[in-house]
Amino acid sequence: PPRVLSGVQPSGALHLGNYLGALVKFTRLQHEIDTFIFVADLHAITVWQDPAALAQQTREIAAAYIASGLDPDKATIFPQSAVREHAELSWIFNCVARLGWLDRMTQFKEKSGKHKERSSVGLYTYPVLQAADILIYKATHVPVGEDQKQHLELTRDIAQKFNHDFNAPGFFPLPDPLIQGPGARVMSLRDGSAKMSKSDPSDYSRINLTDTADDIAAKVKKARTDPEPLPETIEELATRAEADNLVGIFAALAGKTKAEVLADYAGKGFGTFKPALAELAVESLAPVGERMRGLLGDPAVLDAILAKGAEKAREAAAPTLAEVKKLVGFWGA
Ligand code: TYM
Repeated sequence: PPRVLSGVQPSGALHLGNYLGALVKFTRLQHEIDTFIFVADLHAITVWQDPAALAQQTREIAAAYIASGLDPDKATIFPQSAVREHAELSWIFNCVARLGWLDRMTQFKEKSGKHKERSSVGLYTYPVLQAADILIYKATHVPVGEDQKQHLELTRDIAQKFNHDFNAPGFFPLPDPLIQGPGARVMSLRDGSAKMSKSDPSDYSRINLTDTADDIAAKVKKARTDPEPLPETIEELATRAEADNLVGIFAALAGKTKAEVLADYAGKGFGTFKPALAELAVESLAPVGERMRGLLGDPAVLDAILAKGAEKAREAAAPTLAEVKKLVGFWGA
């Protein structure tokens, strides 16, 4: 049966890229498919997290999920660390995945930078845990931003090798990444060649989900652009990184294609386009921030949602792990 799984790390404020690349897709899918969405706190600690802040950061992600439309009665929302099967399957997958596969992971290269030898071992084996997150639920569809594509390919490789090595054809499905649409790769507002990211030192590079209406409008107004009016075609647009990004953001927020946005704005300058984009962004995001603040005002409600979600997730995960242990041949399995 089809099943959706995805997650977001509780390692800093969420931004428009996370929202368009991931959160809005979760919300759409929950109506069609059995949906599991977790807070990736095991992944977050691959880099240092303040123990005094981590649980609250987890609540913030849960609040962002619900504020952007995820319904706890439809989707299963839970903290990754509350379902021990993720970590247990991850160990077994560490013994399936090959060093050569992980050596190719570009995100590790970016995140470890010049100090590879000082990175945690967890940061290196991060994509193996991600494969376990997905496959412990035998998920078939994984909505993510473009930057997760390589991790999804690794997940498929691990599933395939496990099925082969343990002579269990079709045991794990090969999950499909859902990466389509103009929101899959949102770029920095200051530099059209860099991804919008939590770690960019400039707050003007991103729109945070908790930004006020004034912040959002100011950031759109200051966004880097070129002096030309918007072109007629998406081919021309593709040669202008900053313009392409703003049109993509508009399209994703409006639920349109870039071509449809150009049909309305070709020939118009940013003096016209930016105020329209600012209005649309405020209209879409300011209520999400509002709802988040409301939810965070009552942590007991969020905690109850997370506890109930964890229980449901464990019920789904436990049978897979039991079958895996049998296939591997562990004593007592
Ligand atoms: P994380 O927390 O870095 O990002 C969460 C989601 O946001 C997407 N994203 C973007 N999408 C479009 N434009 C951007 N600029 C942008 N920046 C981030 C990410 O692609 C992601 O979908 N490894 C995952 C968390 C994870 C996971 C999983 C996801 C752990 N286990 C299993 C799916 C399935 C991550 O780094 O997310």
